Amino acid sequence: MAVRLLHEQDISIAAELSAEAGWNQTADDWRMLLRLNPENCFGIDAEGRLVSTATLSCYGRKLAWIGMVLTTRAYQRRGFARTLLLHAIARADQLGIESLKLDATDQGQPLYESLGFRVEQPVERWWRPPQAGGAGLQPANLLDHDMEAYKADRSELLRALTQHSKVQANADGFCLSRPGRRANYIGPCVSQSTEFVRTAIQACAHEESYWDLLPQNQSALALATELGFKPQRKLIRMVRGRDLRGREDWIYAIAGFELG
Ligand SMILES: CC(C)(COP(=O)(O)OP(=O)(O)OC[C@H]1O[C@@H](n2cnc3c(N)ncnc32)[C@H](O)[C@@H]1OP(=O)(O)O)[C@@H](O)C(=O)NCCC(=O)NCCS
Repeated sequence: MAVRLLHEQDISIAAELSAEAGWNQTADDWRMLLRLNPENCFGIDAEGRLVSTATLSCYGRKLAWIGMVLTTRAYQRRGFARTLLLHAIARADQLGIESLKLDATDQGQPLYESLGFRVEQPVERWWRPPQAGGAGLQPANLLDHDMEAYKADRSELLRALTQHSKVQANADGFCLSRPGRRANYIGPCVSQSTEFVRTAIQACAHEESYWDLLPQNQSALALATELGFKPQRKLIRMVRGRDLRGREDWIYAIAGFELG
């Protein structure tokens, strides 16, 4: 069972794997992951076809995120995901990553627990049908807010995301939104002001939208409820290595289960 790096030409099959699992990521999301982490996106082939994937996104040395852990149904329970995870963990250790995190589905959680990941906190997807929109906000610098919220340098990720996202920002924070396979994806959104977030989300959520939030942030939960979003999926954020917590009361929407 040989682990190999994923390349540009794998994107369409990789996107088929995430679609098979019912996920919202598009080929553009995969393309961004591969561009940002060319040495850290892994796959396994069987009978000449890509059947299993896992990605590792590094935010400096302090934090890295595992995502896109997928095995096509016909090849599940043969150890493919475990092999890829062991490979990704070894790569993170080799890079000196202090804190390795991921957002686990029910299906993935037993595997991650067996590999030493601990539960950190829940993370939830909320959903809303199409709505009439409000006014947007002007772009400003995103990095200061994000750095404070995550205590890690996600500047490369933010730069890449802004290329295929609608950006709203001012001195109080920022909110991005991008097209998804099933619904518009709101996030990341980092702010000190609920008022900012309310305006930003009303302006970007005209279409059917997904919003992934940390339910321990009571203001995010209250706002999602107020704006008519409904909870749809529950995942568990897990960590291996050093616990790393930032200003999570500023995190209104994460960047994606695969990105943190
Ligand atoms: C979760 C997933 C990636 C596992 O892939 P896999 O290649 O089948 O995993 P492995 O064969 O390496 O199994 C490793 C362990 O995971 C757990 N596991 C795998 N599939 C499972 C399932 N359907 N139900 C419960 N546990 C499961 C088991 O602990 C398994 O060990 P065991 O078979 O010795 O009991 C795969 O089921 C999948 O793609 N699911 C849909 C997408 C998803 O939820 N991904 C996880 C995102 S966090």
